[in-house]
Amino acid sequence: MLEDLSQHVLDIAENSVSARASSVTITITENEAENTLSIVVEDNGEGMSPEFLARAVDPFTTTRTTRRVGMGLSFLKQSAELCGGTFSLTSALGEGTRTEAAFAYDNIDRPPIGDMPSTIMTLFMGHPEINWHYIHRIGEEEFSMTTEELVEVLEDRELLRDTDVGLWIREQISKALSEMTTTAMKRNKS
Ligand SMILES: Nc1ncnc2c1ncn2[C@@H]1O[C@H](COP(=O)(O)OP(=O)(O)OP(=O)(O)O)[C@@H](O)[C@H]1O
Ligand SMILES: [Mg+2]
Repeated sequence: MLEDLSQHVLDIAENSVSARASSVTITITENEAENTLSIVVEDNGEGMSPEFLARAVDPFTTTRTTRRVGMGLSFLKQSAELCGGTFSLTSALGEGTRTEAAFAYDNIDRPPIGDMPSTIMTLFMGHPEINWHYIHRIGEEEFSMTTEELVEVLEDRELLRDTDVGLWIREQISKALSEMTTTAMKRNKS
């Protein structure tokens, strides 16, 4: 099993990369007041046929060539269901795929969110050709970052591979998440 949700996000987003998506949106919604936490990864990649989709979550279903089992989806599904959450996978050939996992925020077995800033940094740096959109909501606050807005400032897409740029991105996300957490906590108390 993976230790935290950010590792699952990395895994699921890598599926979108493998499916040759040109655009991927990652949405994390944490709502302690409503006791929900959800992860959604949506891409415009090659998608899956209904027949393939029906067995995609089976660990023995994979289009990998390097090993015969694919664990990404089955791990996330297990993780969600083990703590009373839900998992859903929708896809259409030639259109794209949407993977969603929802958790009860307060479930004792729910994996911690983990290190989302590093996950996003890794995805942006590793696949700068993709239009990434990262949305993270905590309570009523929302943070959003797109590679398109970064490229506009950097003026060179390849700079997304640069270590200093990656670290700066990670730092911006870290700051935003901790500010949102503080705001949400204050609001929940009052
Ligand atoms: N976003 C997606 N778009 C198109 N096909 C997908 C997508 N996600 C998963 N699949 C298909 O489902 C299969 C199973 O995915 P899963 O993540 O469980 O395993 P894997 O990616 O093959 O291996 P691993 O995740 O362990 O590296 C993939 O091999 C791929 O064919
Ligand atoms: Mg995978």
